[in-house]
Amino acid sequence: MKNQYKSKPIKILHISDLSHNTKLFQLDIKLRFKPGQFVIAGLPGFGEAAFSIPAHNELAIRKAGTLTTALHNLKSGDFLWIRSTYGKGHWPNIKTPILIIAGGCGIISMRPLLTRDNIIIFYGVKSEKDLLFKNEHSTWSNLHISVEPVMITDLFDRIKLPKNLTAFLCGPPIMYKFVIAKLKKLKIPNNKIFTSLERRMSCGTGVCQHCAIGTKYVCKQGPVFSLAELTGQVF
Ligand code: FES
Repeated sequence: MKNQYKSKPIKILHISDLSHNTKLFQLDIKLRFKPGQFVIAGLPGFGEAAFSIPAHNELAIRKAGTLTTALHNLKSGDFLWIRSTYGKGHWPNIKTPILIIAGGCGIISMRPLLTRDNIIIFYGVKSEKDLLFKNEHSTWSNLHISVEPVMITDLFDRIKLPKNLTAFLCGPPIMYKFVIAKLKKLKIPNNKIFTSLERRMSCGTGVCQHCAIGTKYVCKQGPVFSLAELTGQVF
């Protein structure tokens, strides 16, 4: 039986720059995953952390601390250690139009969805230099980008949206409150708003309790939840 708690060394085939602080690692691996699920990746001596999965053989890693700096210093042919695959992914079988709202690195976990039909994408960044996957933007469906001082919430006033939307959100915690207020104005019910709470995770394995919200662990029962599952506990 597969032991998901056991790390395996995975060879890095290629590393490229996605932005000024984020690198794309192409790996000698074929992950089975649903959008929203994650792996635990690390290096001996530097610890490990949870990372969203942008493709079955890739990880996109932003330099943000000791571990990610060490990962950025690796070269093609080096190894990193991975445990996989964790969490509950999303993409229920939805026939209605879908609005994807991604802030900053939140676009990473959404990437497998972005070329599907019947999707509108709102993608917000602080600065042009933070945009990820720029060479793929022309293939993404109905992409609308906001760069500060224009906020992602401003797109709701600029873009005409269809009725009967289902919404998926992923991004920095500060974004959620304001985006959810906009979704409420559109009268999207709580069971049609899905959020990824991936930023709350630490160990990713149900041990550290860092991700507990009410009676739920984000890393075990999420990171994707409908707003109906979270009302009164987070928002
Ligand atoms: S991230 Fe540690 S218990 Fe969930």
